[in-house]
Amino acid sequence: MILGKLDVSDFRNIQTLSLTPHPRLNLITGNNGSGKSSILESIQCLSTGHSFRTRKARELINREAQSFTLTALFSDPQTSREHRTGLSRQRDGSVELRLDFEEVKSIAEVTRLLPVKSLTPDSHKLIQDGPDERRQFLDWGVFHMEHGFLDTWKHFKRSLSQRNQLLRDTGSSAELKTWDSLFVESSEAIDQFRSRYVSELSVALTQRMQDMDARFHVELGYRPGWSDDFSLAELLTRNLDYHRRMKTTTDGPHRAEMTLTTEGTAAKQILSRGQQKVLVYLLHLAQLDLLEQRNARQAVVLCDDLTSELDSEHSREIINQLLKLNGQVFVSGVDLDVLRHHDHSVFHMEHGSLKNVV
Ligand SMILES: Nc1ncnc2c1ncn2[C@@H]1O[C@H](COP(=O)(O)OP(=O)(O)O)[C@@H](O)[C@H]1O
Ligand SMILES: [Mg+2]
Repeated sequence: MILGKLDVSDFRNIQTLSLTPHPRLNLITGNNGSGKSSILESIQCLSTGHSFRTRKARELINREAQSFTLTALFSDPQTSREHRTGLSRQRDGSVELRLDFEEVKSIAEVTRLLPVKSLTPDSHKLIQDGPDERRQFLDWGVFHMEHGFLDTWKHFKRSLSQRNQLLRDTGSSAELKTWDSLFVESSEAIDQFRSRYVSELSVALTQRMQDMDARFHVELGYRPGWSDDFSLAELLTRNLDYHRRMKTTTDGPHRAEMTLTTEGTAAKQILSRGQQKVLVYLLHLAQLDLLEQRNARQAVVLCDDLTSELDSEHSREIINQLLKLNGQVFVSGVDLDVLRHHDHSVFHMEHGSLKNVV
């Protein structure tokens, strides 16, 4: 998708701002605190209802205002079909969400149409932190490629939360059993989506590693979140006493893990910090490749503070790689001169306002 117009009001330190982005590369410059990241956050927020820096939407409302409003025009470069979306959120939590002039209930409808990928300075958490980060990464890809995933995920969340509630309330085995079939069915479906996705991603990652001449090798693996010695249904029965003692369900896709290994050892223990950073970008690029190859779709890519993360050679290389895809890229940074060799637009921020658009 390509954002053709963005209007922001009362969002972070931005009172009103109107932007007509370049279809390929947008450089957002300005001093620290001028509002560069806020612009990127507003784009992510339009797509997902929250930003890469906070899930608390209230923090995004300008301190002097009662609500923020974001609107955008975007189009599919394949079909040239235009869409219009708008999101407004009040301090009391009420939300108004529109897509193509209709009110919509779920932000997922916009997310599906307008995929956004945020690459931020804490992206290395993907390798350094626990499995949650990697599950989120995995599910970003599955969500955008598999239509059935969201409903399956909702069934799973509902059955997990009901089951855990019964475990906490020492519910009877009969009561627990009423949720087990939905839990097992949805868990197995999620497992299939994820395991197929990881094998496809693994091929795309290898391809990217070769293209970028990465001098290290990483294997992508996947564990479903329960022992493969038994079926999940059997495990729920076998481990019931343990689940009761723990007051939670310890088997299921909420415990799944995407693994990154180098010759059998966790990549984070072997790769240098610099190699880990490159690996994070390669993983995201591999996801974007799959989305384009399999679904003919592009995400809007947001790179917050790219040049503070990577040296100028690597920054340039990552932008080159991103622009080999057909999508639109937004990069923020204090000094982005090293990226000016592509056709682009520059937006310069000062105190929450746009100055001299180049
Ligand atoms: N809800 C808010 N209302 C007003 N100002 C805010 C709000 N949230 C953050 N800010 C301020 O907005 C400014 C811009 O932040 P940011 O977009 O991170 O700048 P940059 O990325 O250019 O360094 C910061 O000075 C921050 O304190
Ligand atoms: Mg910033």
